Amino acid sequence: MSNRAIVAFYSRSGHTRALGLEICRLLEAETVLVDCIELEAERELGLLTVGARSLTHSKEPIKECEMDLEGVNLLVLGTPVWGGSPGPYMRSLLERVGDLKGLPVVLFATCAYGDRKAESDLREMVRTTGGRPMEYHVWRTRKDGGDGLARVAASVVDTSIVLLPRP
Ligand SMILES: Cc1cc2nc3c(=O)[nH]c(=O)nc-3n(C[C@H](O)[C@H](O)[C@H](O)COP(=O)(O)O)c2cc1C
Repeated sequence: MSNRAIVAFYSRSGHTRALGLEICRLLEAETVLVDCIELEAERELGLLTVGARSLTHSKEPIKECEMDLEGVNLLVLGTPVWGGSPGPYMRSLLERVGDLKGLPVVLFATCAYGDRKAESDLREMVRTTGGRPMEYHVWRTRKDGGDGLARVAASVVDTSIVLLPRP
C-alpha cells in the first residue's frame, strides 16, 4: 500500500505556495499519495495586522478545509515568516485538527532574510498538538539565490521520505 502524506501550507504572496507545490510534486514522484491543502484566510487583513498577529502568537480564522488524518503517515506544514514568527493561520489549522496523534511533522517556512523564532514556534505548536516535530527547512528568498526553492524542496522531500514506512 502507498504511503500517504498531507502537505498543508498558507501563502499570501506565493513563495510558500510555490515551495509547497514543488514538495507535493516531488513526493508524488516518489509514489507517495499526497493531499495538498492550501489554507485560506477567512478575512482579508492588512500587512501590519498579520505581522502583529504573528508576533503575538495569535490565531486568525481559516476557511473550512478537509484534513482527514486517517491512514496518513506524514504531515508537512509550511508557512511564511512574519515578524520572525510563523503566520497566524497555521495555529488555526492545528487548533482545528486538535490532536496530531503522534504523527511526524516536517516543517518548512519562507522568509526574506531571517526566520528568527519561526522554527522554535513551529516545533512548539506541533508538540502541543500531539505531533512529533521533525526537521525544519527554510527558504530565505532574498538570500538563497535562484535555485533556493528547488534545493529546499528537495531537502524537505529527502527528510520526509526516510520517515515513511517502506511501502
Ligand atoms: C507582515 C510581514 C512581515 C514579515 N516579516 C518578515 C521577517 O520577520 N523576516 C523575514 O525574513 N521576512 C519577513 N517577511 C517577508 C516574508 O516572510 C516572505 O516574503 C515570505 O516568503 C512570504 O511568503 P508568501 O509569499 O508565501 O506569502 C515579512 C512579510 C510581511 C508581509
